[in-house]
Amino acid sequence: MKVRELTIADATKVAELEHVLFANDSPWSRDVFVAQFAHPYTFYLGTFDEVDGNETLVGYAGVAMLGPRDDPEFEVHTIGVDPAYQGQGIGRAMMDNLVHTADLMDGPMFLEVRTDNAPAVAMYESYGFIRLAVRKNYYQPSGADAFSMMRHRASERERKSR
Ligand SMILES: CC(C)(COP(=O)(O)OP(=O)(O)OC[C@H]1O[C@@H](n2cnc3c(N)ncnc32)[C@H](O)[C@@H]1OP(=O)(O)O)[C@@H](O)C(=O)NCCC(=O)NCCS
Repeated sequence: MKVRELTIADATKVAELEHVLFANDSPWSRDVFVAQFAHPYTFYLGTFDEVDGNETLVGYAGVAMLGPRDDPEFEVHTIGVDPAYQGQGIGRAMMDNLVHTADLMDGPMFLEVRTDNAPAVAMYESYGFIRLAVRKNYYQPSGADAFSMMRHRASERERKSR
C-alpha cells in the first residue's frame, strides 16, 4: 500500500469511492473534491494498492485546519475505505496521519459520525474522541442522526493524564 497526498487528478476516483460509501448521505461530487484539494487549509490523503506500477485508490481521508494559525482547530471532513479493503488497518493508518497533524499543532479535533456507524465510532473513541452531542437528522436524505465528537488538544490530554 502507498499513502500520498491527493491532488485534483485524483478527484474523479475519490468521488467514485465516496458514492459507494455514502450513497444515502449526500456523497460529495468530483467538483467538491476538486475545491477541497485546492483549498489552502485542507489536507487530504489517499491509500493506493499498487500492482505493476498501477495505483488503485482504496481509501481516502481529509482534515481542515480552522481558526487562527497560532491556535488552530481541526475538523475531520471524511474518512473512507473501499469495502473490499476494510478491516485491514487502512483506516487506522490514515487516521494516525490526521491526528498527528493536529497534535503537531496542538489543536483539538472535531467530527460528525452517524450514531449507527459502530466501526467508525469505535475507531474515533480509540483515538480519544468523546461524544459531545447528538445532532438529529444531521444526514440527508437518510435522516440519520450524528454524534458530534471532539478530541482534546495534545497538551490538554497530557495535563489530564497526569
Ligand atoms: C470507518 C472505516 C474508515 C474504518 O476503516 P478500516 O480500514 O476498515 O479500519 P481499520 O481496519 O483500520 O480499523 C480501525 C479501527 O476501526 C474500528 N473498527 C473497524 N472495523 C470495525 C468493526 N467491524 N466493528 C467495530 N469496530 C471496527 C476498530 O476500532 C479498529 O481498530 P482495531 O483494529 O485496532 O480494533 C471504514 O469502516 C469505512 O470506510 N467505513 C465506511 C465509511 C465511513 O463510515 N466512514 C466514516 C464516516 S464518519
